[in-house]
Amino acid sequence: MTKESANVPQHIAIIMDGNGRWAKKRHQPRFMGHRAGVKAVENIVKHCAELGVGVLSLFAFSSENWRRPSKEVSLLMELFALSLKQQAKRLHKNNIRLQIIGDLSKFSDSLQKQIKQAEQLTADNTGLIINIAANYGGRWDITQAVQKVAEKVTAGELQAEDITEDMIGAELTTASIPEPDLFIRTGGEERVSNFLLWQMAYTEFYFSETLWPDFDSQQLDNAISSFNDRERRFGKTSEQIQQDS
Ligand code: IPE
Ligand code: IPE
Ligand code: MG
Repeated sequence: MTKESANVPQHIAIIMDGNGRWAKKRHQPRFMGHRAGVKAVENIVKHCAELGVGVLSLFAFSSENWRRPSKEVSLLMELFALSLKQQAKRLHKNNIRLQIIGDLSKFSDSLQKQIKQAEQLTADNTGLIINIAANYGGRWDITQAVQKVAEKVTAGELQAEDITEDMIGAELTTASIPEPDLFIRTGGEERVSNFLLWQMAYTEFYFSETLWPDFDSQQLDNAISSFNDRERRFGKTSEQIQQDS
């Protein structure tokens, strides 16, 4: 597929699942799967940039992943910090902008600082936006957005009955980016696991059996080609959509 191809989704959101099982199949510790997963991220980022995708959202750590054994959690934090350190300059060189969404207050001070630095370094880049969800939960995002809107009500700036969907959307962590067009989950599970709940109201879903470390550019092309075979109706009839196009 080339940059000129007709329907490259503007925003692709991915749950990168299956690292642990990938490692288990090889009789390796789960952490090796996470390490291999970072390599897959590099490939997919490169391919998205080549295709001209606007935004790539990647679920790296959910608000529920703290429930894992503490050793795995701390190894994941170390890997996150290491990858940021190794990749920030390279992303910058490639005109890629990095954004991290989630409740970052739960991370160590040094990791928070590193995140800020990587975001600032790449803030003015105009190419692909990589949106990493870390300690992210869709319900958390909606809750913090509603709290901000409620503060305006408390301050007397807004009446409760005047609250609109757009006002809530504008307070979500993803306010500056379009909603996902295509959602991909690897690893065979078919659920959203508290990812971008509000934002995926009309996203097309694609599930792959492939474990994340094995997900490559060919498989991304397959997902995009499935996306291109769909008719997005947004509540309208098929006839209306054909008339409009
Ligand atoms: C996804 O892979 C990565 C993270 C949640 C950090 P998993 O670690 O969930 O892998 P499986 O599902 O156990 O195979
Ligand atoms: C979802 O994967 C979160 C990430 C990929 C970061 P999980 O593997 O944690 O999801 P569940 O718990 O199986 O639904
Ligand atoms: Mg999993």
